[in-house]
Amino acid sequence: MSDTTAGAVGDSNSRRKFLVTATTAMGAVGAVGVATPFIGSWNPSAKAKAAGAPVRVDISKVRPGEQIRAEWRGKPVFVMRRTAENIASLDTTDAVVADPQSENPQQPSYVDPKTRSINPEIFITVGICTHLGCSPQFRPEVAPADLGGDWVGGYFCPCHGSRFDLAGRVYKAVPAPLNMVVPPHRYETDNIVVVGEDEVTA
Ligand code: FES
Repeated sequence: MSDTTAGAVGDSNSRRKFLVTATTAMGAVGAVGVATPFIGSWNPSAKAKAAGAPVRVDISKVRPGEQIRAEWRGKPVFVMRRTAENIASLDTTDAVVADPQSENPQQPSYVDPKTRSINPEIFITVGICTHLGCSPQFRPEVAPADLGGDWVGGYFCPCHGSRFDLAGRVYKAVPAPLNMVVPPHRYETDNIVVVGEDEVTA
């Protein structure tokens, strides 16, 4: 019996020690588990930093009437060099777009509300439709058979047929509710645009 009792006391002590050890260990694990996300958020990885970083775009080789595609924050960014005719087409589309003076906050305050750009020749927009997020097609041609005789160039979303002009202004009566987004950007030189950095704060 005494052996049993002694054994029980011994077991009890062992159990207590085990529980104390286990609790301490769990506490330590818990502390590490809580601390890690904070450390993670204070020290974003180089990859995470790069994902949100501004992007330099060389526009020197973009010819009038053409556009190139860059990427910023995982999104496509269209950079177009407008011709004089492309800029003039915005006078025509004034009458058919829903927000001709860019009253909705879809662009930085320092861009012109009509051309939606700093330099009228260079149009920069996030290449995502404001309806459900498809990527609109660049359709600069005038009156193509599939878009009709009134088309003066713009962006066409193949998913549900939304139309935007060459300033990314959305047409009236299409599924997309808002103009395409103009990202923050500034000119480092005449030929280098930094997308993701503001003109005023850089
Ligand atoms: S996603 Fe562009 S029209 Fe629906």
